Amino acid sequence: MSNLSAKLRSLASNDPAKAAACDAVAALAAAAASIAAVIRQPDAEALLGATSGSANTDGDDQKALDVLADEMIERALAAVPAVAAYLSEEQDTAVPLHDDGQVIVASDPLDGSSNIDTNVSVGTIFSILPASGGILQPGRNQLAAGFFVYGPQTTLLVSFGGPVMAFQLGDDGQFHDMGWSVSITPDTREFAINASNMRHWQPDVAGYIADCLAGETGPRKVKFNMRWVGSLVADGWRIFRRGGIFLYPADARRGYEAGRLRLVYEANPVAFLVEAAGGKAIDGNAPILDLVPRTLHARVPLVFGSANEVDEFARYRP
Ligand code: F6P
Repeated sequence: MSNLSAKLRSLASNDPAKAAACDAVAALAAAAASIAAVIRQPDAEALLGATSGSANTDGDDQKALDVLADEMIERALAAVPAVAAYLSEEQDTAVPLHDDGQVIVASDPLDGSSNIDTNVSVGTIFSILPASGGILQPGRNQLAAGFFVYGPQTTLLVSFGGPVMAFQLGDDGQFHDMGWSVSITPDTREFAINASNMRHWQPDVAGYIADCLAGETGPRKVKFNMRWVGSLVADGWRIFRRGGIFLYPADARRGYEAGRLRLVYEANPVAFLVEAAGGKAIDGNAPILDLVPRTLHARVPLVFGSANEVDEFARYRP
């Protein structure tokens, strides 16, 4: 079974941009292994669930582990000459690192952090872009993207534009190839949405979910199952594994006019993996990867998963 380091060495061969992306992924993997260790055995700095006393760019309370994970990732990337800048959910503006760097790394250092103190999977999401394109590039430009999940297993899904590769952290501190050919099944009978927001949904989302809930006697004529972990990485991992559709739509609440999730470091990397695995990821209409972010922390409605089911959802749009 090959490990991530060997895979990165073979990918990096003659392409300088790919080599830079590989260096960044290697640094992120080392940081993720350390973050996983802190989650397993929290130290005084990372009391799980403790708040840092401030809010992030989202206005959410920052947890101590959010801040620690952000620091660990920034430190790891700062040691890589190929990384020009670091964009983080936890920091208002881009962090410049190396003037001659070839890539920019955007990250949500600790996705799903409201789940930290409940022993539910959380993760680190990342997107790697060519530095020449600046910080506001469409996700189609990504050189690589992926996410780590800190759950019963610590895992990594990553793509460099080719197939999605899956790795699992072993006791030796290395990420090992899981030997899994990652592809999202085109059809599904499972959806993921925070249904507590139902009263705020737009008619298309309400209509689509109502038809799923109507089951065998409804227009879809089949029974749907619902799953909602509340960590994008965990809901995402499940969809890569067995299909499904995930929706975090825009809704009528103040501040949710463009949904909740962030384009640059949440939706884009997930969409890159989803397309590489044969699925679809849209903002309701357009492919996520075609959108040009207007700001670093711009939000976007996100619907992704099994291709035929995403198409089915799109048919409900006005
Ligand atoms: O972006 C952070 C996040 O925790 C995602 O991981 C998750 O999908 C979403 O927010 C959950 O939001 P809500 O608490 O509104 O269901």
